[in-house]
Amino acid sequence: ALSTMAVATVTCTAPVNIAVIKYWGKRDNDLILPINSSLSVTLHQDQLKTTTTAAASRDFTEDRLWLNGEEADVGHPRLQACLREVRRLARKRRGSSTEDTAALSLSYKVHIATENNFPTAAGLASSAAGYACLVSTLARLYGVEGELSEVARRGSGSACRSMMGGFVQWQRGERPDGRDSIAEQVAPETHWPELRVLVLVVSGEKKQVGSTAGMQTSVDTSPLLKHRAEVVVPERLALMVQHIRERDFEGFGKLTMQDSNQFHATCLDTFPPIFYLNDISRHIIALVHRFNAHHGCIKVAYTFDAGPNAVIFMLADTVAEFVEVVRRSFPPATNGDQFVRGLPVSSASLPEELLSAVVAEPVPGAVRYILHTKPGPGPQFLDDPSQHLLGADGLPRRTA
Ligand code: DP6
Repeated sequence: ALSTMAVATVTCTAPVNIAVIKYWGKRDNDLILPINSSLSVTLHQDQLKTTTTAAASRDFTEDRLWLNGEEADVGHPRLQACLREVRRLARKRRGSSTEDTAALSLSYKVHIATENNFPTAAGLASSAAGYACLVSTLARLYGVEGELSEVARRGSGSACRSMMGGFVQWQRGERPDGRDSIAEQVAPETHWPELRVLVLVVSGEKKQVGSTAGMQTSVDTSPLLKHRAEVVVPERLALMVQHIRERDFEGFGKLTMQDSNQFHATCLDTFPPIFYLNDISRHIIALVHRFNAHHGCIKVAYTFDAGPNAVIFMLADTVAEFVEVVRRSFPPATNGDQFVRGLPVSSASLPEELLSAVVAEPVPGAVRYILHTKPGPGPQFLDDPSQHLLGADGLPRRTA
């Protein structure tokens, strides 16, 4: 059958995830083994996703890669590690199988094209979705099934959590070979249907220390990080799992904010210190606390990764009011761009006492836009060939 098949092509999509118990620090840089377990929420792919097409053919003369339509270097060590691991699993599988005649030759070169449906410039972590998508696509191409989070982890630590939907825990594991450092689903996305997520994309450029380099310096210099990994995270993880199981928003929200704050505290404790939050991030933090204080309970909860953008959790019944508070606090620059994107948001008028208690001096243009989304499923296969990013000739359909 293979001789008639010039090009085998597979396309997958994969989600972004946002950690509520943060991963920061490796105990093995090559295998990407973390110093602590972490837990994240997978975001819905209707709003944020990576799409990847991989094709293999005996006619291809070299492995090639295109990122958002532009050819990129395939030699990246982490990409090579993922390719090598998927091919190794395919070989292992075939060794134990009798019907391997239909299987794709492992000696064929591959072409890979990958695209995000959100601007990379928005500073939203794209490596997690990117590597989860790459590994899902290659695994399907080579007919590999089963535990793949271990392979995605080799691309980027946080990518292993994008291999599943809903609420996902990455177990740090104990083994030096990393076989037990894998992602596990705590609950599917259907578990908490009212949970919503707002991504507040803040203005300003993203000149900052990357996660990989930043966490290495933290491991080398921060005593707070050591304490966090050994003492704080194990306690918090158990609590967080319980809050999620019970759909306890107050517990979930408070712990999410505390863990984000401790992560940024370890960044300040790093020497030289690392700053990911900016003035706008701090404005958003203060706003969230005033909003919660006004309501007398935790209604909204922020978390920040290695950049200034805020990710805010809330229940569906709070979205309209909080979006209006953000609009009043950070009046959008009227450049015609949509201020609120993603899932629809109904309009709300704010009571005077809420306005005066929560909305401080407005900072025009500080928030570029709000993306409204919710928890979503893990990687998906696209079976419709018209959705492939590579044409029948194995080259990108669209170029940058
Ligand atoms: C702050 O997964 O990007 O987003 O493993 O070196 O690729 P590498 O790092 P990466 O780090 C993510 C750090 C974080 C917290 C988190 O997602 O848990």
